[in-house]
Amino acid sequence: MARTTTRDIRAMKAAGTPIPMVTAYDYTAARLVEEAGIPMILVGDSMGQTTLGYENTIPVTVDDISSATAAVIRGSQNALIVADMPFMSYQASVEDAMRTAGRLVKEGGAQAVKLEGGAPVVETVRRLTEAGFAVMGHLGLTPQSVHQMGGYRVQGREKEAASAMIEDARALEEAGAFALVLELVPATLAQTITEQLAIPTIGIGAGVECDGQVQVLHDILGLSLDFTPRHAKKYAEVGQVIVDALNQYVGEVESRQFPGEAQTPRESGKSQSGEVTELNVANGA
Ligand code: KIV
Repeated sequence: MARTTTRDIRAMKAAGTPIPMVTAYDYTAARLVEEAGIPMILVGDSMGQTTLGYENTIPVTVDDISSATAAVIRGSQNALIVADMPFMSYQASVEDAMRTAGRLVKEGGAQAVKLEGGAPVVETVRRLTEAGFAVMGHLGLTPQSVHQMGGYRVQGREKEAASAMIEDARALEEAGAFALVLELVPATLAQTITEQLAIPTIGIGAGVECDGQVQVLHDILGLSLDFTPRHAKKYAEVGQVIVDALNQYVGEVESRQFPGEAQTPRESGKSQSGEVTELNVANGA
């Protein structure tokens, strides 16, 4: 099966089909996301916090996103892969943006790139689109501007800010963006933007009326042990499952219950019960 395309994603909006999207940053996660049939994966710069241990997304580099994207590509066959353009890899000039997008698509293998912001990046989105890149926009809370915004707050609550966001959304669509993330935006504003655009809106903390939803995998799986943002729902406690499994492993190592007979090679190529085990065969024992 071929990968989902940006055309398919736009067609989902036209058909009124909700679009699920999650982040992934490595091969194993991509395989699991793919197994769940999720049509679009974001290799987000949220990897700064989730996998690299930074306080925010700002230190993430193009190298980080590029190698994560390549791993996600290796772990998936059908999903559309969107790679985040990291902070200061596109803000200074259109040329920087072209080089970054080029690396993420050519080296990483992404089908699309995502960048944050409104009016200041509209020309960049236009030029990237003209050059042949598929571009996803990102309005509302834009985490790369966390210091300028003074924290992770809902954006567009005041009338003027809401009008400006609607204008930005229209401008990004007109510049060629194929979809638009709306992060931490009041639900009514997100609904207005969604109704006014032909391209899909993908919400995160922006209400149920967006055309799709994106979530950070670690948040919805309970992999971040100490923090879950309010907009995320934990569908599982995978972090706790891992800790419990590791505690059991440690206990069995300490009590010499592990490795057991099934995990133990024997000189004869046979287990103590006489069966030729896969382990023994694989080991050539
Ligand atoms: O990096 C990321 O995970 C994102 C989502 C929060 C949309 O940009």
